[in-house]
Amino acid sequence: MSKKIIELRNLRKNFIVGEVVVHALRGISLDIEEGEFVAILGASGSGKSTMLNIIGCLDTPTSGDYKLDGLSVAGLNKNELARLRNRKLGFVFQSYNLLPRTTALENVELPLLYNPAIKSHQRRELAMNVLEAVGLADRMHHMPNQLSGGQQQRVAIARALVNDPVVILADEATGNLDTRTSFEIMALFQELNRNGKTIVFVTHEPDIAKLTKRNIVLRDGNIIKDTVLNETIHARSLLESLPVNPDYD
Ligand SMILES: Nc1ncnc2c1ncn2[C@@H]1O[C@H](COP(=O)(O)OP(=O)(O)O)[C@@H](O)[C@H]1O
Ligand SMILES: [Mg+2]
Repeated sequence: MSKKIIELRNLRKNFIVGEVVVHALRGISLDIEEGEFVAILGASGSGKSTMLNIIGCLDTPTSGDYKLDGLSVAGLNKNELARLRNRKLGFVFQSYNLLPRTTALENVELPLLYNPAIKSHQRRELAMNVLEAVGLADRMHHMPNQLSGGQQQRVAIARALVNDPVVILADEATGNLDTRTSFEIMALFQELNRNGKTIVFVTHEPDIAKLTKRNIVLRDGNIIKDTVLNETIHARSLLESLPVNPDYD
């Protein structure tokens, strides 16, 4: 059996808003193994982001257990959590979250600045390698505002990859992109997964979720469905079947 990267046991998360308690997660148990490509689906408000934020150590559960790469996360202090995030996790968000007025290369180097074991020349080399891997070898010195949405998301993916994390966490990573660019980004995620990267991908779009290998559906803070997709749909072949858009550059 494969190595477990994420183990959730009876995870609950309550938010207290004024006098109301919002039960965002109502007892989630879930294992994700090395090499999986998982989509977390569900309507708006079903708990997807709350779950991803807990998996990403950006938030803590009200109760329940979470092990990341075999390590129990409960009880770690802020610094330990920050270090865990930096060394073990890569994040991709809907809005890219790149630093403006900072080149693609410098954006990608950023996570490595927090790792004293990596010297500056190595930093540059690692960042160049991942930018090349996401198809941006010729855009390294561009600022975010000189790049299209899809290219900015590729920079964000390169930044998420540069520390060689045990898992990539993406929250609505195609949410700001048109259909063609979404499929291009999904083709990139599929390629990364084929090369062994574990990916957890939050989306509310079933068409995007079909391009992963396992679909978990949340409703009102519970898992209501967990399906393994046996037949792989290649985002590349969907791209070929899209009508040609003359406005697309
Ligand atoms: N920081 C917060 N404070 C209060 N309620 C929150 C907070 N974050 C999320 N919620 C509530 O928790 C539920 C799940 O939200 P969320 O995880 O963002 O859902 P999704 O990402 O599936 O749209 C919603 O009812 C939302 O209003
Ligand atoms: Mg959300």
